[in-house]
Amino acid sequence: RTARFTLDPAFTVGEVDPRLFGSFVEHLGRCVYTGVFEPGHPTADADGIRGDVLALVRELGVTAVRYPGGNFVSGYRWEDSVGPVEDRPRRLDLAWRSTETNRFGLSEFISFLRKIGPQAEPMMALNLGTRGVAEALQLQEYANHPGGTALSDLRAGHGDKDPFGIRLWCLGNEMDGPWQTGHKTAEEYGRLAAETARAMRQMDPGVQLVACGSSGRSMPTFAAWEAAVLQETYDLVDHISLHAYYEPLDGDVDSFLASAVDMETFIEDVVATCDHVGARLKSPKKISLSFDEWNVWYMSRTEEQVSALDWPEAPRLLEDSYSVMDAVVLGSLLIALLRHADRVTVACLAQLVNVIAPIMTEPGGPAWRQTTFHPFAQASRYGRGEVLDVRVDSPTYGTQKYGEADLLHATAVRAEDGTVTVFAVNRSRTEPLPLEVALNGLGPASVVEHSVLADADPDARNTLAEPDRVTPHAAEGTALEGGRLTAVLEPLSWNVIRLA
Ligand code: AHR
Repeated sequence: RTARFTLDPAFTVGEVDPRLFGSFVEHLGRCVYTGVFEPGHPTADADGIRGDVLALVRELGVTAVRYPGGNFVSGYRWEDSVGPVEDRPRRLDLAWRSTETNRFGLSEFISFLRKIGPQAEPMMALNLGTRGVAEALQLQEYANHPGGTALSDLRAGHGDKDPFGIRLWCLGNEMDGPWQTGHKTAEEYGRLAAETARAMRQMDPGVQLVACGSSGRSMPTFAAWEAAVLQETYDLVDHISLHAYYEPLDGDVDSFLASAVDMETFIEDVVATCDHVGARLKSPKKISLSFDEWNVWYMSRTEEQVSALDWPEAPRLLEDSYSVMDAVVLGSLLIALLRHADRVTVACLAQLVNVIAPIMTEPGGPAWRQTTFHPFAQASRYGRGEVLDVRVDSPTYGTQKYGEADLLHATAVRAEDGTVTVFAVNRSRTEPLPLEVALNGLGPASVVEHSVLADADPDARNTLAEPDRVTPHAAEGTALEGGRLTAVLEPLSWNVIRLA
């Protein structure tokens, strides 16, 4: 059976905030050391930033970059990470049972972002695990105040005369999780987040603040946590965070392929919770969602890995290798985010390099694109503009977790110049899916490109030995005639159909 939907410029979801294509650099494993930063690498610049990685980061099209954690941030002492490198202390990183050398710190991170280009913006996470209001204010002053005070002059003395201009701040990380150093109840965290936000706004009313939501939809406190935290912080914060990671559990691949069903429900549940608190407070304000950790992550393998560590420097951790199937699921998660662009205004693919990442490196050796690199890069490149409201009429398939799920998952974005890009996933592992799209009153009259990521072997991946085994290819037979787009989506495929 054919899957269908209609596009009409009168029916839209909302504008895409460029920060929807954010990423995440945590001091975890080899994300920073031998990932982004490797002095002595043949491609490294004078600051130790790997040129090969920088080129791939630019190609990936990342915008907001969250830093320095993650779980790491709940033990982070910002002052360890600034000033002369030879004076920086080595510290225990309790989150990942590793030793943090602080050779790469705040100034190096900002300089890395500046090298990426103007589209890259810092999203700085604060330690509200072992620290609080005072340290948040110190970091804000050090980073953002122009000069003439102890901490802003200290920054200038460290060689950074220009302030870092960090406008987006996360008030802690996953504070609902018992694994978090300094874990809190919703009430404890809500009060601390509110007081930190109030104080930060005293220094700069223009900061944008993200309160911690739940670290997953399956957390026992989910929704009650958001309601309690927002009750304290509603007028003081701009965003609430969501985190979600997906993997096929117990071999349940069909549910894994429908992971975006869970992601969309999660988003809609958080929107409902935010709006409920807003209604109770009689507030006209709407809270935005920051999906600041999302990805495919074979997490069930992680705990054992971490507990076996004996405080190494930059160990190989969470270095998942992604298949074609993983890339199709990641593409579907991107579609879910775009479909909710009216409320999700920040999202960070966790993470950027080596650690559950689209970019992999070998110390002293090459860098390469994982399969998941491709859907992200294409969505970031072509998913800018206005999201059109897509309601699919699709054949379905049975899943253990989500019941009947649509085989087609899709969205469409209209750019400022009138071109339209359809992003679509066929979840069927065996069958091609014929697609028909009616274009009502939209300008495009021809197909510019139909790019597909699919493979006869859904387990195919890119590796050090074969870095370009999986890349997108052109589909054949896609046509646009008389306002009717027709295409056939290969089994288990991610599709980008560009119309002009
Ligand atoms: O991204 C890896 C980890 O996942 C982060 O440190 C943490 O916030 C989450 O649990």
